[in-house]
Formats: sequence, structure tokens, C-alpha cells
Amino acid sequence: MAILKHRAGKLVIEQTRDFAVVRAMLARGALTTDGIEWPAACYLIAYFGDDAVGVIGVEPKVDAALIRSLYVDESMRRRGIGAALIMAARKAAHTRGARHLYCFSAAPGQLFERHGFAMVPFADVIAALPGVPQVEFFRTHPADFAREIAYHLDISADGVIER
Ligand SMILES: CC(C)(COP(=O)(O)OP(=O)(O)OC[C@H]1O[C@@H](n2cnc3c(N)ncnc32)[C@H](O)[C@@H]1OP(=O)(O)O)[C@@H](O)C(=O)NCCC(=O)NCCS
Repeated sequence: MAILKHRAGKLVIEQTRDFAVVRAMLARGALTTDGIEWPAACYLIAYFGDDAVGVIGVEPKVDAALIRSLYVDESMRRRGIGAALIMAARKAAHTRGARHLYCFSAAPGQLFERHGFAMVPFADVIAALPGVPQVEFFRTHPADFAREIAYHLDISADGVIER
């Protein structure tokens, strides 16, 4: 993914390996940082001007991927940044070969449903993404998982050109 120039008043989403920035944002949202440095993972940051205002992670494995660690700073919410991060994560997952996209969500269920995700049993996610950090985290922390719902989106047609 190209590194884009930040411009005042403009939203730019770019891939990062700057885990200090990712950690700082996830801490503001009280979200777990377990496993974020997994080598195969991809983290995307939303910049508004030079300010990092949102983040999302993608954990890919073979033909599936999990999106995790979605967070937007409170002062920047309800402007479509969360939606833009989900779309960017979907593209990142597709380019890494994913045909199925999964996520866990405790609260903003409607946000994911608006993006076409449908609820699935947790067992489906374990079967599709064995061993990826966020799946392992919930598998080994059942108390944390009790609040979460698993979602799935078929992205196998992404990038298909119909003639
Ligand atoms: C969930 C979260 C990432 C959403 O970020 P966001 O940038 O506010 O997301 P969006 O702006 O795309 O959408 C949020 C809402 O704003 C609405 N919205 C989007 N653009 C809008 C606009 N220009 N004007 C008014 N409302 C708008 C959306 O319709 C959506 O409505 P909903 O609350 O009924 O679902 C953010 O609330 C957050 O960080 N929460 C805490 C962490 C968290 O729960 N993370 C998810 C873990 S899976």
C-alpha cells in the first residue's frame, strides 16, 4: 500500500509498522494489544492531517482473514472514518488472498451488519483461522469472549470484473 502524504483537513489511510502509535490508540479505547506484532498481520492507520485518529488490524491466513482492533478517537467519530477503515481492511484482506472476512464485535454490531457482515458461530472462525492471534486470544480467554459476537462476510467476489 502506498504511503500517502498527509494533508491538513484530509483523511488518509495507510499501512503502518509503527506499533507505538497502534498501541497508544488501542490503549485509548481500552482494546487489547495482544498479538499485534504478529508478522503476518497488517495494521492500517487513519490520519486526519498529521494526527493518527483511527486504526484497524487484519490477521490473514490462507484464504481467510480476521479484522480486529478497530478504533476511532472519540472526537472524530460519526464521520465515516470507521467505515473507511473497514473498507480499507477489506481491500487489504482481499489483496492477501482472503475470500472470507471475519470479525468479533462486542458493541457496534450494526456497523458491521451495515457492511454486509452476518453473525456466525465462533466455531466457524476457529475453523477458518486456527492460530491467528485474536482467535487464539478469545479461545484462551472465554470470559472476554462471552461479550463478543462473531461475524462473517463473503469477499470472494471482490476484484471480479463482470463483462
Ligand atoms: C466503532 C467505531 C470504530 C466507529 O467509528 P466511527 O468513525 O464513528 O464509524 P462511522 O462514522 O463509520 O460510523 C458510526 C456511525 O456514524 C454514522 N455516520 C457515519 N458518517 C456520518 C456522518 N457524516 N454524519 C453523521 N453520522 C454519520 C454511521 O451511520 C454510524 O451510525 P451507527 O452508530 O448507527 O452505526 C468507534 O465508535 C470506536 O472506536 N468505538 C470504540 C472501540 C470499538 O468499539 N471498536 C470496535 C471493536 S470491534
